[in-house]
Amino acid sequence: MTRLLLGVTLERICKAVLLLCLLHFVIIMILYFDVYAQHLDFFSRFNARNASRAHPFSNSSRPNGTVPSYGPPSTNLSATEKPLQPCQETPPGLVGRLLIEFSSPMSMERVQRENPDVRQGGKYTPPDCLPRQKVAILIPFRHREHHLKYWLHYLHPILRRQKVAYGIYIINQFGEDTFNRAKLLNVGFMEALKDDEEYDCFIFSDVDLIPMDDRNLYRCYEQPRHFAVGMDKFGFRLPYAGYFGGVSGLSKSQFLKINGFPNEYWGWGGEDDDIFNRISLNGMKVSRPDIRIGRYRMIKHERDKHNEPNPQRFTKIQNTKMTMKRDGISSLQYRLVEISRQPMYTNITVEIGRPPPRLARG
Ligand SMILES: *[C@@H]1O[C@H](CO)[C@@H](O)[C@H](O)[C@H]1NC(C)=O
Ligand SMILES: *[C@@H]1O[C@H](CO)[C@@H](O)[C@H](O)[C@H]1NC(C)=O
Ligand SMILES: *[C@@H]1O[C@H](CO)[C@@H](O)[C@H](O)[C@H]1NC(C)=O
Ligand SMILES: *[C@@H]1O[C@H](CO)[C@@H](O)[C@H](O)[C@H]1NC(C)=O
Ligand SMILES: *[C@@H]1O[C@H](CO)[C@@H](O)[C@H](O)[C@H]1NC(C)=O
Repeated sequence: MTRLLLGVTLERICKAVLLLCLLHFVIIMILYFDVYAQHLDFFSRFNARNASRAHPFSNSSRPNGTVPSYGPPSTNLSATEKPLQPCQETPPGLVGRLLIEFSSPMSMERVQRENPDVRQGGKYTPPDCLPRQKVAILIPFRHREHHLKYWLHYLHPILRRQKVAYGIYIINQFGEDTFNRAKLLNVGFMEALKDDEEYDCFIFSDVDLIPMDDRNLYRCYEQPRHFAVGMDKFGFRLPYAGYFGGVSGLSKSQFLKINGFPNEYWGWGGEDDDIFNRISLNGMKVSRPDIRIGRYRMIKHERDKHNEPNPQRFTKIQNTKMTMKRDGISSLQYRLVEISRQPMYTNITVEIGRPPPRLARG
């Protein structure tokens, strides 16, 4: 009796194993023919007799054209290459929280060595997928070479993991007159578009702010974005609800909708609040990452010379509604001094004038 039962059980096991083998075989065949089919496809591409089918981006192999292709310039398909797919919404190679420190010595040579795939001028395109946006990262700048090295050291690898197609621009204020962050950023917007008219997203970053989490994605969103939610100097909290300072991002259309940034904020402070007002007054809302992800480390430094707090900032931000139509990208004037393409960034030096005389006294 038990022997019979054993026999039946054995038989069942055998059948199961056989079935599994069959299934395995079928799957292998499917995969095999799939690969085979691709080879056929490949051959047909180079089949001169039918030019319409030969095009590598025929309708069947690419979605319906809603995704702009910012692929590498040489989209010259070699034998085994398949057309690139759009980059994933959430890049797969992110690592999350990062250790950021500024004590180890840093040099531009090291940054260059660690980022061999960044092109001249600080540009990069993901090699393995088609990015959905092209991002110009603009850094208002003067005498902060030391910070720039750390910024590039940390940001290039982060942006690469985030699968961003980007270019890095420092907007270097010429001369020693009072600093004007917002006006420099307006210049950056104009000059980046002159450099590459395909930019459709602009991220404005101070040179001393490093994100502590690579899930804080440097791209543009449905609404204007504020990235630097929690800085260490503010105890990793948003200092006030309308804070828009540090690192922010606007798409090209969002930026033009608010007439860019104000040109008349000389010295430290106020311009970010004016930008926040412009956004609200134009019916948009600031979006932000989660406070746990939007953390930033700031490189400690003395306050710069010629960037003293602007005493007029409190009264000026009351008047955004009146000033924003005439003061902005539409009224921007500057003199380009030099554009130099460095291996890790593009250096745009510009003369933007000085505050009107009545302000200079204060
Ligand atoms: C090319 O392909 C199209 C459809 O893909 C077909 O209608 C046409 O007859 C082909 N032409 C030649 C020369 O094979
Ligand atoms: C390919 O797509 C274009 C527009 O997306 C369309 O006009 C055209 O008819 C399509 N061709 C085929 C063969 O489907
Ligand atoms: C393209 O595809 C998307 C979704 O896949 C669809 O919403 C859109 O209408 C399509 N556009 C065209 C022109 O077919
Ligand atoms: C494709 O690219 C290779 C180098 O990447 C080049 O040698 C070759 O001439 C190119 N072929 C075509 C058809 O452009
Ligand atoms: C940018 O270019 C200006 C003008 O040539 C130069 O004085 C400055 O040192 C450069 N700055 C950086 C960080 O490359």
